[in-house]
Parts: sequence; structure tokens; C-alpha cells
Amino acid sequence: VRLIVDPSEFQAACAELRAAGHRLGLVPTMGALHEGHLSLVRGARQHAERVAVSIFVNPTQFGPNEDLARYPRTLERDLEKCRERGVDLVFAPEVVHMYAKGESTRVSVGSLGETLCGASRPNHFDGVCTVVTKLFQLAGPCTAVFGRKDYQQWKIVERMTADLFIPVTVRSMPIVREADGLALSSRNVRLLPGARAAALGLVRGLARAQGAFIEGMRDGARLRELALLEIEGAGLEVDYVSLVDPDALTALPDALPERVLLAAAAFAGDVRLIDNVVLGEDPRLPETP
Ligand code: PAF
Repeated sequence: VRLIVDPSEFQAACAELRAAGHRLGLVPTMGALHEGHLSLVRGARQHAERVAVSIFVNPTQFGPNEDLARYPRTLERDLEKCRERGVDLVFAPEVVHMYAKGESTRVSVGSLGETLCGASRPNHFDGVCTVVTKLFQLAGPCTAVFGRKDYQQWKIVERMTADLFIPVTVRSMPIVREADGLALSSRNVRLLPGARAAALGLVRGLARAQGAFIEGMRDGARLRELALLEIEGAGLEVDYVSLVDPDALTALPDALPERVLLAAAAFAGDVRLIDNVVLGEDPRLPETP
């Protein structure tokens, strides 16, 4: 695996791979790689002969009171995992490389970034869109793969890429879960044992609402209540539990259609966790203990 820190060098390396006739896959990450990220590498391989992984904890997508400083940084281990999975390029720039002195451009998708996670994390998605645009400009034409745990991020990146005519195909891969159902996240390593157990309330809540939906319940308020019962009952502090259109991310009438995104965010201790399920589409969530 070739490690690159300089943006121009990464841009040239991607261009060289394409010039040699290879399709390129890009997996943008913030590192602390886990099986979820590695499933994105596998997803990229389905569409490309060469795969690049970017590892960059992007400061512009963190709010002033968020966990930028505490975000896990494990570059050596990440490189080892990339090497094992046959990743061709790892792009791991420093902040000064991605945000050089005097930089001032931000990319925003407007209202799509103001709901769900965007409501409690103002500017978060502007930070994501800005860094992803930079990464797409460097990588050039490629297939970029995102995880559906960050469902809103995936939809926003898809929108932005289409709106700005960026020559990148955006694809997504399903959420990867621990055996007990918890969605994999780099932040899970920060969960203390009590909070780790409580975190299961999130998937239990989604599963309970999904079960009721499968049995025919289409009352949005009632489904939301069922999810909240489990999430709050586990002692988590709820940020949001929302039922929205899976594509536009807009509110739905209380009598729900046949395909609905149920998304939730909650704090387990000081760790913010997110999870989601597309009702009417995703397979049944695992039974959690
Ligand atoms: O999902 C992430 O890890 C980040 O938001 C991303 C897409 C790498 C942008 O910093």
C-alpha cells in the first residue's frame, strides 16, 4: 500500500492509475478503521481494479463542543488493515494540506443538511461536503463508496455530486453490525461498559418499530413512540427519532407510505451514536439482548 500525504501527489497517483487503464474506487474515511469501513473497500472493489482509502479527521465537520480532539486516531493500525485488504493508495493528509493558509471556500447543500443530524450539528454537513468535494477533485473520475449508517451523509453527497456535475459515481453499502446488533462506528471504542450496554437501546428501538411496521402499523406517531420507549428506556439521551422520506429526507404524513427511513441519534454517556433502518426495504434487524 502506498501512503501519500501530499494532495498533489495523491491527485497524480490517481490520474496515473486511470491512465494505466484501471478504474478507481475511493473510500473516504476518518480512520479508526473497522469492519464497516472494510466492507466499503469490498464494495469499491466490485466497481474498480484499484482502491484508494482516504484517512482524514476533518475539523470543519466538528462543532466547537464536539469530539474532534477525542476522535480515535490509529494510522499505523489502519495502514495494516489497508495492506491486508490489498488497498492500493492510502491518502492521509495533515489539516494544513487540506485547509491551506488563506482557504475560505465551503460547499453547502442547503436544507438537506439542516434536518436530522444537521438540526443539532449546524455546519456539520457543510464541513462534510467541503472535504468530500476536495477529495473528489483530487481523486478524479471514480466510484466513491459510503456507508449507510451515515444515511443522511450518503444522500447529501449523492445530491452534491449530481448538482455540481462531479464525475464521481456515489455508491453505498449496508450497515455492518456487531453480533449483538450495535452498528459499527469508530466512536464505539469510546463507550464505557455501562454505556455500551445502554447503546443497544438504539437498535432495539429501531427493531421494535420495524417489527410493528412489518405487522402492518402505518401510524408514524405510534411507531416513533415505540422506538422512543426502547431508546429512552435504555437510559440514552435522545437527540432525534424521525420518520422521513428515504430520498428527500422530508417529513411524511402520519399515515405512512410503504418505504420510510427511520433514523435516530442518541447519546450514550458523552458518545453520540446514530443508526437507521429503511422500513419496507431493509432486512429485519437482529434480536438484541
Ligand atoms: O463518514 C466519514 O467518515 C466522514 O464524514 C467523511 C465522509 C470521511 C468526510 O470527512
